[in-house]
Amino acid sequence: MLKIEALSKVFYPNTVNEKRAIEYIDLNVNEGDFITVVGSNGSGKSTLFNLIAGTYPVTGGKIILNGKDVTHTPEYKRAFTIGRIFQDPNVGTAAKMSLEDNMITAHRKGMKGLKISLNSEKRQLFKEELKQLSMGLEERLKDNVGLLSGGQRQALTLLMTILSRPQMLLLDEHTAALDPSNAQIVMDLTTQFIERYNLTTLMVTHNMQHAIDFGNRLIMMDEGKIILDLNASEKESLTVPKLVKMFKTIKKKEYASDEGLLIL
Ligand SMILES: Nc1ncnc2c1ncn2[C@@H]1O[C@H](COP(=O)(O)OP(=O)(O)OP(=O)(O)O)[C@@H](O)[C@H]1O
Ligand SMILES: [Mg+2]
Repeated sequence: MLKIEALSKVFYPNTVNEKRAIEYIDLNVNEGDFITVVGSNGSGKSTLFNLIAGTYPVTGGKIILNGKDVTHTPEYKRAFTIGRIFQDPNVGTAAKMSLEDNMITAHRKGMKGLKISLNSEKRQLFKEELKQLSMGLEERLKDNVGLLSGGQRQALTLLMTILSRPQMLLLDEHTAALDPSNAQIVMDLTTQFIERYNLTTLMVTHNMQHAIDFGNRLIMMDEGKIILDLNASEKESLTVPKLVKMFKTIKKKEYASDEGLLIL
């Protein structure tokens, strides 16, 4: 599904500020994989997503998506295949547009730019789709999205991302800005959608328990490298202390506050 070969990213090369954010990463993501991604601040998780999505050009290496080399494919073209959700609930939707206008945009993207117009049939469809969120948003089609709470807005972003029919989801701490109960609701919806649409998913989280509980594979990043890649059976017996211990063993360093390093 996704094959990454010797991927690297250097910011500000050959300057005093040179930063090697991604250092020769190889990664094979299989169709239907749900991979949780952990690692301390600045370890390169978001940069890896930015390279997969095409937000930044790579410094070196290759990105193969469904057998096609997309290393130099522009971001907007990759966006038809890759759905991305960020931490900030304000990012994925347009605040000054109504729910129905936001949703038609997502549908158009799913239809690969085909012209479709907003009519009563579409509105009925949107209501059915919004019902899946169980937030009463089906009654608020005409409301501007800016009126929604952070949790409602992130749930809508998730729904819209799914409606645009991506083959792959990149979730970058997408519940981190929500209060615990909304985070739980959005996480439950996320797993439901991933299962229903069999979406290949990479999910960055700073919640170690989530990283262990969700998905069929866990990778840990550190200083621009993947230092741990655990499969479903290895993950099954994992606990937060065990994961922290693995990190420390690999790093061969002692930290004053080891759990604090990973759980933020
Ligand atoms: N656009 C950029 N320009 C310069 N440096 C960058 C840029 N984006 C990321 N970096 C640097 O690359 C490194 C990796 O950053 P990245 O955002 O990928 O980390 P992260 O693992 O997502 O961290 P966090 O958990 O804090 O989100 C950091 O040192 C960061 O400062
Ligand atoms: Mg990040």
